[in-house]
Amino acid sequence: MRRRAAPLALVGLALLALLAVGLWRLWPAASPGPARASEIGGPFSLIDQTGAAVDERRLLGRWTAVYFGYTNCPDVCPTTLIALAQAIDALGADSRRMQVLFITVDPERDSPAQLGRYLANPAFPRGALGLTGAPARVAAAAKAYRVYYRKAGAGAGYSVDHTSVIYLMDPRGQFARPLPAGAAPADLAHQIEDAIRRG
Ligand code: NI
Repeated sequence: MRRRAAPLALVGLALLALLAVGLWRLWPAASPGPARASEIGGPFSLIDQTGAAVDERRLLGRWTAVYFGYTNCPDVCPTTLIALAQAIDALGADSRRMQVLFITVDPERDSPAQLGRYLANPAFPRGALGLTGAPARVAAAAKAYRVYYRKAGAGAGYSVDHTSVIYLMDPRGQFARPLPAGAAPADLAHQIEDAIRRG
């Protein structure tokens, strides 16, 4: 009996060690710390759903929620856009100081017309600008915002894995803070109000 306890104790110790390593590895991921403002955002050159050219100057003068996604996204993108719409509605008068840029990570399928149809959804933020462009220009915009995306699956029904963070930019076009895409509308509204109050 005693001889069997020793290996069991070793297994227990090994499990504890694994758990400790796991927690140590998770710790920095759970608290990444604020990204430096200068690291997020920058020049881009895209076109909106009407075919008009839009670049980073569009950020000036308003608070902007910048979100990268794609119109065929089955869940995260629509959920995020709906939450953002509800958050902006909850801002009251401040909602007029806000705009939303939805930048596609799927320029192959997301033409201006497709973005226009998608963003006409009454549950999405009113007046949201949908941006697309040549794949290289979309890639440059994503790089500026530290957004990762990658095509997954084959055929016409492919999906696109992508970073899902709403970047709140201030009226000078500088990164203010990230808004977690999974947050409830009330939390998003609170974060936006707090950022606006701090200017
Ligand atoms: Ni998505």
